[in-house]
Amino acid sequence: EKGGFEHFMMKEICEQPKAVRDTITPRIRNGRVVLDDITLTPEQLRRFTKICIVACGTAYHVGVVAKYAFEELLRIPVEVDVASEFRYRTPIIGENTLMIIISQSGETADTLAALREAKRAGCRVLSIVNVVGSTIANESDDVLYTWAGPEISVASTKAYSTQLAVIYLLALYIGEQLGCFSAEQIDTYIAELERIPDQIETMLAHKEDIQFFASKYFNAGDMYFIGRNVDYAASLEASLKLKEISYIHSEAYAAGELKHGPISLIEDGTLVIALATDSRLFDKMMSNIKEVKARGAAVLGLATEDKTEIESQTDMVFYIPKTSTFMLPSLSVIPMQLFAYYVASMKGCDIDKPRNLAKSVTVE
Ligand code: F6R
Repeated sequence: EKGGFEHFMMKEICEQPKAVRDTITPRIRNGRVVLDDITLTPEQLRRFTKICIVACGTAYHVGVVAKYAFEELLRIPVEVDVASEFRYRTPIIGENTLMIIISQSGETADTLAALREAKRAGCRVLSIVNVVGSTIANESDDVLYTWAGPEISVASTKAYSTQLAVIYLLALYIGEQLGCFSAEQIDTYIAELERIPDQIETMLAHKEDIQFFASKYFNAGDMYFIGRNVDYAASLEASLKLKEISYIHSEAYAAGELKHGPISLIEDGTLVIALATDSRLFDKMMSNIKEVKARGAAVLGLATEDKTEIESQTDMVFYIPKTSTFMLPSLSVIPMQLFAYYVASMKGCDIDKPRNLAKSVTVE
């Protein structure tokens, strides 16, 4: 059932090109995004003054990417919350709010409660769900399914990638309906979106580089992930993946926050993984990398392949292909998933069933 893989997690990491392709391909026709599955009209879309995104864990991290993508592409204000916080913060929501719920299982208790709260307040609810016929799917006004297939490993991988793909589809769809793009822009975005599965495939072909890096650091007591904008969003996911399966203490910080406290944690040999794929913020990241280097950190850099100058400040670099900023997390997450996997494997952890965790959290 693991198809020759030692763990479901690695099987599911390797299934990502197909899962993302299956999620995207049926929704692109004649070079345009077609979402037959949703009933929102352009008039309804125009009425929304705010988008609220609610989810837990890895799905929440997709929401963080979505905030950057929607605000940049659509110029609509976006709030993103973890469901357990959203429920209890008396959010300001109503008929003009589009509520987006993200959940692999479609059964997460806090996420479901947030959905019901949003419906009570009169919001239109669109959910992004993997399990067909799940409670969240059933109770939503619209559902966009991720076609990831069953995800068995507790640590989520292909659900994250396919949820991101749906977010991009949705952003491009809404943007087109609202007239946010030129024909040229939309062509570029769609071409880039369609390229993601092959790009993931190419990165998976270089697994051994990550394995080698993991072999040098799997004994570390702590690790820090830093990034800005979508790289910060990807850092959150990278850090969660690592800690949940390897039990190594890790934190993700917005790189600009370092000097407001966390930099005091850096000492000789501390491992910092710097995600610096957003070209607009590359120079800022280089400054942050220099700051941690100066305090003795070992640095793994993640950058797009045109930014080779990162090598001057890092101990090792992984490159990802260039694409539009908002799509970068789809690529940068791949080496991060592999890194977490190899570290956990070298530590002899129970990768598919990490301690204290359940695949679906159906109690508050
Ligand atoms: C982490 C992980 C969890 C889930 C979270 C939400 O790898 O799997 O953080 O993402 O429990 O679950 P769903 O998406 O089923 O609502």
